[in-house]
Amino acid sequence: MMLEHEIKIPASTANSYPIRIATDILGSLRARIEADFAGYNKFVVTDENLVSAGHLQKLLGQRDVPTFIISPAGETSKNIDTAISIIEAMEKAYLGRDTLVVALGGGTVGDIAGFAAAVFKRGVPVLQIPTTTVAQADSAVGGKTGVDSILSKNAFGAFWHPVAVYIDVATLTTLEDRQFRAGLVESVKHAIIADSEYFDFLEGNLDAVLERKPEMLEKVAHWNCKIKGNVVEADPGEQNLRRILNYGHTIGHAVEAASGFELLHGEAVAIGIIAAGLIEIELGLSQPGRLDRTRGILEKLGVPVRLPRDLAQKDLIDLIKRDKKAVNKSPRFVLISEMGQVYCKDGQYAVEVAPDLVEKILDKL
Ligand SMILES: NC(=O)c1ccc[n+]([C@@H]2O[C@H](COP(=O)([O-])OP(=O)(O)OC[C@H]3O[C@@H](n4cnc5c(N)ncnc54)[C@H](O)[C@@H]3O)[C@@H](O)[C@H]2O)c1
Ligand SMILES: [Zn+2]
Repeated sequence: MMLEHEIKIPASTANSYPIRIATDILGSLRARIEADFAGYNKFVVTDENLVSAGHLQKLLGQRDVPTFIISPAGETSKNIDTAISIIEAMEKAYLGRDTLVVALGGGTVGDIAGFAAAVFKRGVPVLQIPTTTVAQADSAVGGKTGVDSILSKNAFGAFWHPVAVYIDVATLTTLEDRQFRAGLVESVKHAIIADSEYFDFLEGNLDAVLERKPEMLEKVAHWNCKIKGNVVEADPGEQNLRRILNYGHTIGHAVEAASGFELLHGEAVAIGIIAAGLIEIELGLSQPGRLDRTRGILEKLGVPVRLPRDLAQKDLIDLIKRDKKAVNKSPRFVLISEMGQVYCKDGQYAVEVAPDLVEKILDKL
């Protein structure tokens, strides 16, 4: 006999959240956050570059809000020690369960702050104000938070959806050019996997996007949030569909690691996107000129479209076989059948590709 008892978990309050996109709204957000989250004590997490760029001051104005400034900025600080420091800073400020964590910054700030919020007193809400092309397109939407261990990225993590996302595209004007361009690779990826109209738009307006024209940046952010949002809504726990967001990432992750993280994530993914395009040609999934269009847009972005010469192919193959999507060392790839249309085989979006075909592609890269 088996006794059974079912416990129903009530739907979480963060079941849905608004994403608001505009230009030059940092200064007015304060009042808006006060009004929308009146019952909460605010705690801001940001990094030193957001301070020197003037964005933190714009957000806070004259208000004295407890703030944690991550230093140094970037991935080296994305670890459990920083998360502990943030949590202890909240305790020292006598903050409790009625705290709203406000994350102002790129993906590293958002990931760390989101993780700290997810575990502080068993979870307090987080509001994301993303300030990089990566964060506005990708990390602020989707609810993945986490920090790295010495051995691997996002070793500690939680799905912790924000209560709101406010995107001020004016913050992008101070972002370093290389970061700005590399972050846009995820936008190109979104267009390739989900929306050929978006691809046409990027192709036709890339100069204006690179000039950081606000109305263009708003459109890009809107498109990205819609595409990523739809995928996340359909598959919040990454059971299947959400894997399509890994387009270009099987080889991209390997290239990023093999470069000793000299290449930015988006730069490595650009090479991975070209690799996926080459595999599509080999498997008869491509149409004439399709890969040339993708290569054209990535070249214009100024990101690499070929493997750096000094990358050892053997290391790459090993890394690809160890990719989290690999099954029995056969790497799996997300591929498209048409621009804006992911290839789905037997209900699966990540398809196995023979290792010798992968080696052949690496030779061509
Ligand atoms: N949670 C997710 O779903 C998800 C998705 C993609 C990436 N990520 C994570 O995001 C991280 C990368 O994010 P990122 O590329 O935004 O890097 P980042 O947050 O490190 O920012 C890059 C650099 O730009 C600076 N910066 C940020 N905004 C600025 C601005 N407006 N003006 C001037 N400088 C600014 C930062 O201080 C940093 O030095 C990685 O840790 C990655 O794992 C998470
Ligand atoms: Zn990525």
